[in-house]
Amino acid sequence: PPLSSIQNTYDFEKIAKNILPREAWAYYSCGSDDEISMRENHYAYQRVYFKPRICINVKEVDTSTNILGSKSSVPFYVTATALAKLGHPDGECSIAKGAGKEGVIQMISTLSSMSLKEIADSRIPGATQWFQLYINEDRNITKNLVKEAENLGMKAIFVTVDAPSLGNREKDKRLKFVDDTDVDLGGDVDRTSGASKALSSFIDASLDWSDIKLIKQWTKLPVLIKGVQTVDDVIEAFDIGCQGVVLSNHGGRQLDTAPPPIELLAETVPIMKKLGKLRPDFEILVDGGVKRGTDILKAVAIGGNDIKVSVGLGRPFLYANSAYGEAGVRKLIQILKDELEMDMRLLGVTKIDQLTSKYVDTRRLIGR
Ligand code: FNR
Repeated sequence: PPLSSIQNTYDFEKIAKNILPREAWAYYSCGSDDEISMRENHYAYQRVYFKPRICINVKEVDTSTNILGSKSSVPFYVTATALAKLGHPDGECSIAKGAGKEGVIQMISTLSSMSLKEIADSRIPGATQWFQLYINEDRNITKNLVKEAENLGMKAIFVTVDAPSLGNREKDKRLKFVDDTDVDLGGDVDRTSGASKALSSFIDASLDWSDIKLIKQWTKLPVLIKGVQTVDDVIEAFDIGCQGVVLSNHGGRQLDTAPPPIELLAETVPIMKKLGKLRPDFEILVDGGVKRGTDILKAVAIGGNDIKVSVGLGRPFLYANSAYGEAGVRKLIQILKDELEMDMRLLGVTKIDQLTSKYVDTRRLIGR
């Protein structure tokens, strides 16, 4: 279908399902076990209601903001996903171009299907890219990766900590990993049971807090932890001087029934505030199940003036890129930006920093 007929994130998903090779669809779309976290990531947003204000001049609205000190045209970003080339020959590079042209930040996976150099070379001047780090058993490889990311102009390092072992992704496991990408999987790789298994051999389960401290010594870049799933770990990350965390259950692909990030966020913000654990250079990002402008506004509002919150989208970008490449990525951003502008008007705010907890009713979230 023509790109102009696309109305929302779901449309991209439907098209991707139709056009992707079944192995790629299985790898992108699957969650772990019974896919409860994957579904709840999305449904939990429905349990937050808005408190829209009326009779406010909303003629001019501005969706732009700053995330980790970089300008962004919107309060959301492209989060790290492996193997974009399974869906489109331009892989992560068309995502880089599409996002960059729309003023949106891209987080690049360690397990990208193109080299970090290629993806950095596709960066639009002035655009921001971050690097997502998986820790290799060989810490020298990891250290070199961090240096490379720094040299290639990445603006932050996100250490993913929610995958010491791979989640049980049955849809993916049923299919053999079809390696028709150029991704360099290194030495001995188990290609017999799905893409996830093939990739996971590079991740070290011995990772602990001392590694995070070590990485902070290797680089001047902000270091954030991706895959934080409890308030206690948010506090730990804050205390050791990280510049933030990503509340994430890996899109429901790791421990099933891990909490939906929006619920964890609503639990976290008041506790951090009460403990006085607030710093201008400590931000919270959330990802998982985000499909609408309203979802994004809810997360940002829960952080309010206390904690800067931004939102990551994974699968929606993979689907848009698989279906239409760079043009699809741009269209997805434009759709969400249009939704954000309309929703901000209907909510009665004109700037992102006006969004506070007074605009959301979180009482229906579990534990609130
Ligand atoms: C991921 N995710 C992920 N995370 C990460 O830190 N490194 C990675 O290489 C990948 N790879 C990856 C591949 C695919 C196909 C998916 C769907 C996800 C997790 C990702 O960063 C993010 O947490 C979720 O995708 C967010 O959920 P949504 O937006 O996909 O619902």
